[in-house]
Amino acid sequence: MGLLADARNIQAKDPAARSVVEVILLYPGFHILVYHRIAHWLYAHKHFFLARWVSQRGRHKTGIEIHPGAKIGKCLFIDHGMGIVFGETTEIGDNCTIYHGVTLGGTGKDKGKRHPTLGNNVLIGAGTKVLGPVYIGDNARVGAGSVVLHNLPANCTAVGVPAEVVRINNTAVNPADDLDQQDLPDLVSQRLTELERRIGEVETQARGAVPPSAQELEKWRRADNR
Ligand SMILES: CC(C)(COP(=O)(O)OP(=O)(O)OC[C@H]1O[C@@H](n2cnc3c(N)ncnc32)[C@H](O)[C@@H]1OP(=O)(O)O)[C@@H](O)C(=O)NCCC(=O)NCCS
Repeated sequence: MGLLADARNIQAKDPAARSVVEVILLYPGFHILVYHRIAHWLYAHKHFFLARWVSQRGRHKTGIEIHPGAKIGKCLFIDHGMGIVFGETTEIGDNCTIYHGVTLGGTGKDKGKRHPTLGNNVLIGAGTKVLGPVYIGDNARVGAGSVVLHNLPANCTAVGVPAEVVRINNTAVNPADDLDQQDLPDLVSQRLTELERRIGEVETQARGAVPPSAQELEKWRRADNR
């Protein structure tokens, strides 16, 4: 059954959870899934007032406000609860993790689909705001306290305000991250060597001889500097 799988998933993901029974009885992240199932069913059958009433009961009990229209995939893990809001047109894939203080909300500028869509296995850190009809790709991780305003690709880590992608497939995307601050390349010297090589080539071609190799040129340059 879906809800039992949800409870088992929470137990597996939370090192502090001792048993499934504990999750079922005491975890707000599980309780809100039960409320939302009912509210979403009522919403889908056009019982909008009742749907909203159930959703508000859930909010009152857990501090998590999920609009009855939001579509939530399998095995969502909401850790801690409190201060969480998912808007009406939010869509969440399977196996996502969401911490306290997260908003999946609108910017106030869009109509129709105006809330975020999360792929599968997405992690949204505590306090993060994802605003507008943005898409967050599968396996993306958004750092705590970020504000996401644009689509994020799959398999990335994004952090900051506004959120910037800092890693894709565990590789830093900003070349500055890889810069060796201790051993900076000497660009002027490299350029001069390259120029010398090209002048040497032109000179020897003009004389009809074989051009010197780059190593030979480097050797001559060192000898000249002595
Ligand atoms: C982003 C996160 C998921 C880590 O993902 P990751 O792919 O393992 O990324 P890394 O830890 O390698 O961090 C990548 C870079 O982002 C920085 N970073 C990580 N989290 C950040 C954050 N929340 N805000 C700003 N920068 C952050 C790191 O310092 C690192 O910078 P560097 O490359 O200059 O060293 C994790 O840091 C995070 O924020 N998790 C949310 C946890 C949470 O909300 N917990 C609440 C428990 S109650």
